[in-house]
Amino acid sequence: MCGIIGCFGRGDDTLDTLVDGLEKLEYRGYDSAGVALAGETLAVCKTAGTVEELRSALGARSMAGHVGIGHTRWSTHGPPTDENAHPHLDCEGEVAVVHNGIIENYQPLRDELEAAGHRFTSDTDTEVVPHLVEEALAAGESPERAFRSAVERLEGSYAIVALVEGHDGLFAARNDSPLVIGLGDGTAGDPNPEQFFIASDVPAFRAFTDQVIYLDDGEFAHLDGGLTVTDAEGNRQSKAVNTIEWAATETGKSGYEHFMLKEIHEQPRAIRQCLRGRVDERSATVDVGEPGELSPTGVQFLACGTSYHAALYGAALFRDAGVPAQAFYAHEYATAPPPIGDDLVVGISQSGETADTLSALREAANRGARTVALTNTVGSTMDRECDHTLYIRSGPEIGVAATKTFAGQLVALNLFSLAAAERATTRRAVVPALRDLPGDAQQVLDESNAEAVAAEYDSAKSYFFIGRGLQFPVALEGALKLKEISYEHAEGFAAGELKHGTLALVDDQTPVFALVVGDGEKARKTIGNIKEVEARDAPVVVVTDGQNDAARYADHVLRVPASHPRAAAILGNIQLQLVAYHVADRLGRSIDRPRNLAKSVTVE
Ligand code: F6R
Repeated sequence: MCGIIGCFGRGDDTLDTLVDGLEKLEYRGYDSAGVALAGETLAVCKTAGTVEELRSALGARSMAGHVGIGHTRWSTHGPPTDENAHPHLDCEGEVAVVHNGIIENYQPLRDELEAAGHRFTSDTDTEVVPHLVEEALAAGESPERAFRSAVERLEGSYAIVALVEGHDGLFAARNDSPLVIGLGDGTAGDPNPEQFFIASDVPAFRAFTDQVIYLDDGEFAHLDGGLTVTDAEGNRQSKAVNTIEWAATETGKSGYEHFMLKEIHEQPRAIRQCLRGRVDERSATVDVGEPGELSPTGVQFLACGTSYHAALYGAALFRDAGVPAQAFYAHEYATAPPPIGDDLVVGISQSGETADTLSALREAANRGARTVALTNTVGSTMDRECDHTLYIRSGPEIGVAATKTFAGQLVALNLFSLAAAERATTRRAVVPALRDLPGDAQQVLDESNAEAVAAEYDSAKSYFFIGRGLQFPVALEGALKLKEISYEHAEGFAAGELKHGTLALVDDQTPVFALVVGDGEKARKTIGNIKEVEARDAPVVVVTDGQNDAARYADHVLRVPASHPRAAAILGNIQLQLVAYHVADRLGRSIDRPRNLAKSVTVE
């Protein structure tokens, strides 16, 4: 939520580096964008709208300098206007600041600064920062000390990068919002990097380097042709240099019209990567390292949004193995946690930076819980704060709607429960289904008729999704995907629940998508629920593996290969992702950047 970047560059290409980097960070927010460069004087260009609009605003403007900062905004304080766009400046335009997070005590600070004569031009919380730096500079502090003094006054969450006119360098500080530093020109282990980057996330500068340092909460960084990291007391910190495993090309669209479509199509590969080296087919055993050895007596899953749907699925797997398990919305858990006892607490988060989930995990850790992060993001706050991590290995996901990472989460949850809790009979049934999953996913992608189904129903004003057991979280996910990118109303239900009220809304204009797999009791009962909605004239789309006769009652059928119900959930979800994508595409929506949303929600 908000993307920030800073670059201490080599030549005149710093402005291009910043703007290209901002484009890679737009998944974090796209309400407004701006850059500042420190040349002979400080130059700023910012505008409401996307990075593309920033490019137009930059137009023929010449902005020179090899040190600069940039920002792409997801609004918290104040609407998306030119004035509220970052970078924010002090009264004299000599200090420029970009910020991600929320400064909770900004109002008293602003009152104090205004009383001292500072003039504010925006509604943002951020603007107090350059004015605080200005105050400290006026009191005779050095730029580095002035930045530190300003940050010391802040309460809340922040990743901040600042420029001070006349100083050839960048200052940065982090608390509860991510910041990662990129070193050099891509040469692994380069002891004297020539270029430094700092950003909310690695894709911003991955084209230039794979060598990174993660800043920790309370740390400050000074990039001035060298790098100094200090803690809150000013003590120098020695930081580990990490190598990013994925290639810069993975953050491009590879010929697809949208990142979301590309990422839907990357699911066979994402699943393969998640399985690689973790499953021994002959012995039907699974090894996911430490998390798999925890033998939990109870599990509490914490997550939000799509990751919460994965949490529901994961909890069902552990319960199936005889281990009491429950999924919680992280934001609810953070303020009212249940008794934890000896339960293992597992945070599920693609980004590893979701503030709600981090805060719930911290609450659990404060109560003595053992914590596990299940995440896609190596080096994320969740990865570093939890006792153990299970990576889902999906590769970078840029589209705001989570797609391949949901598949990765479900596969990783299977591996986790198989390794930590499940009996050999279950392992022998599930391992072959997981082995076949990449191929089955490819088959769904190759043969899907989701586009035709989307064409049939793209004028509906409401869509319902139903499923039982493991198909219930997929029904929730199908609805979330559709509403977030099409802006049409959609709801997911446990199939048995629809008749307890919502059936009143069902009529011949309400397509109902029903997930029906296998030939057991769940399938039979879901078919009963299909008949209930058909009796109210609802069009029915069945997602089925053909092992039951649900297709007989359907207006349209989305098929998945016959497999284990755990795998069928992942395959059925791919069909629903494609339906959501094509409905949104036909409605002309902004698929990769849906209104009001951001990929990484770093505020509570
Ligand atoms: C929906 C979506 C969101 C995220 C949620 C949690 O497509 O992407 O619902 O799932 O904001 O994000 P992470 O998984 O990063 O914690």
